[in-house]
Amino acid sequence: MALGFARPRNPVLGVDFSGVVEAVGPKVEGFEVGDPVLGSTGIRMGCHAEFVRVPARSAIVRKPEGISYESAAAFPFGYLTALSFLRDQAKLRSGQSVLVYGASGAVGAASVQLASSMGATVTGVCSGRNSELVRSLGAANVVDYQTQDMSRFEGRYDVVFDTVGKLGFENGMNLTKRGGTFLLTVAGIPDYLKIGRSKFGSGRRVSAGMAGEKKADLEYLANLLSSGVLKPVIDRCFPIDDIVAAYEYSESGRKRGNVVLSIS
Ligand SMILES: NC(=O)c1ccc[n+]([C@@H]2O[C@H](COP(=O)([O-])OP(=O)(O)OC[C@H]3O[C@@H](n4cnc5c(N)ncnc54)[C@H](OP(=O)(O)O)[C@@H]3O)[C@@H](O)[C@H]2O)c1
Repeated sequence: MALGFARPRNPVLGVDFSGVVEAVGPKVEGFEVGDPVLGSTGIRMGCHAEFVRVPARSAIVRKPEGISYESAAAFPFGYLTALSFLRDQAKLRSGQSVLVYGASGAVGAASVQLASSMGATVTGVCSGRNSELVRSLGAANVVDYQTQDMSRFEGRYDVVFDTVGKLGFENGMNLTKRGGTFLLTVAGIPDYLKIGRSKFGSGRRVSAGMAGEKKADLEYLANLLSSGVLKPVIDRCFPIDDIVAAYEYSESGRKRGNVVLSIS
């Protein structure tokens, strides 16, 4: 609904970009032609193009020195989502326990890094082939959902974050402590009905919705990128001519972190 009713409102997809400023409007302050930048257009999309036009006050910041354009393009989507859900919706605090379900995806990998940088103890859930990756991102514990029974972790976590929409509403609620928060990046109408019912007596807060992209948040995150606290995970880079293959791979459900399109 947010992206368009029957088809995308903007036929040029793509929500993140990095590159060099080609031109600035007459009233723009803070950016000059030639500046290296990164940013997000969010649901306005349009980033799978050679040029993107964005308001200077929107989510666009200078690309930190030493960060490649590929890493910069792989940056906003996952971390802006992680920040919105973990800091703003769950009010995550140092010392809390977090379960990140889908910990090897774009949002999942960013969430593992961000939550551990905030002082939380992170349990990442992924398939066995991604265990080492998820551990290297800062997860104290890694659970292989293909071989381990998730129900034995019931009621253990202050925050449970289903980043891929595969955990199931009841499982997510069971894993969350009473007084804790269950977060969903993917929620359909049945989930929203359950979220409504959960307000009465479940003892847990449930939060879903759109993350959005605020300039101040991107500035905050870019500082963490610059200092090396956050490191975007890139699975594969494709030239724009191979965009169909890039989308097929991206939609396989198996990508690790991000897929980047290069336009030379
Ligand atoms: N609400 C919002 O504002 C918002 C913002 C951003 C994204 N989203 C949504 O969030 C979702 C995630 O996006 P994404 O790009 O982060 O996903 P993604 O990168 O495509 O996720 C891929 C990962 O999912 C894991 N996975 C696949 N099946 C799984 C299962 N059954 N259990 C656990 N993990 C599984 C895979 O790990 P294994 O190979 O190890 O299984 C893979 O690493 C998308 O649907 C997106 O639309 C919502």
